[in-house]
Amino acid sequence: MDLKNYIASIPGFPKEGIIFRDVTPILQNADVMRSVIDAFDAFVKEQNADFILAPEARGFLFGTTVAMECGIGFAPVRKPGKLPRKSISETYQLEYGTDELCIHADAIQPGQKVVVIDDLLATGGTVEAIIKLVHKMGGEVVGCAFVIELDDLNGKERFGDIPVCSLTHFA
Ligand code: PRP
Ligand code: ADE
Repeated sequence: MDLKNYIASIPGFPKEGIIFRDVTPILQNADVMRSVIDAFDAFVKEQNADFILAPEARGFLFGTTVAMECGIGFAPVRKPGKLPRKSISETYQLEYGTDELCIHADAIQPGQKVVVIDDLLATGGTVEAIIKLVHKMGGEVVGCAFVIELDDLNGKERFGDIPVCSLTHFA
């Protein structure tokens, strides 16, 4: 099974010049989704992680399932104004301007070993901000896992020595 057959590529979405890589066909096929979750599960166990974080919205699709599969906890990382309880936040650079990510202040405990899961690694700004949030809370990011890595953007260079698991690669 070639995972790339279950990733749709949409030129010009959401704007000209971007080829959007859509993971929803993976979710439409239980066997393909199972193979993705098994691969993430093996990575999380290799890293001896005891917690999963994932950013909205597409990271949730994989992060919660992997956490259940591994028998460990999960917390959502969200855009501003969405989380109802005391939160901490981190701003990060976009191509133009900045954005902000937030997490509940009690989401992880000091010393916890976290894997970050998302559908796609592009510039790495999203996950770099999550790594900073984890450090602020006294935790450690022991791995980052993606269905898709966009190689030409070199996003993983922003993660230092943290191991990265990418199930497929596009330019
Ligand atoms: C996309 C994708 C990743 C992020 C990757 O999410 O799902 O989370 O961009 O980009 P980066 O590596 O350059 O930070 P998006 O911000 O579009 O949010 P969505 O999942 O809510 O659509
Ligand atoms: N997020 C950033 N770049 C993307 C792309 N090419 N496809 C889907 N999501 C993205």
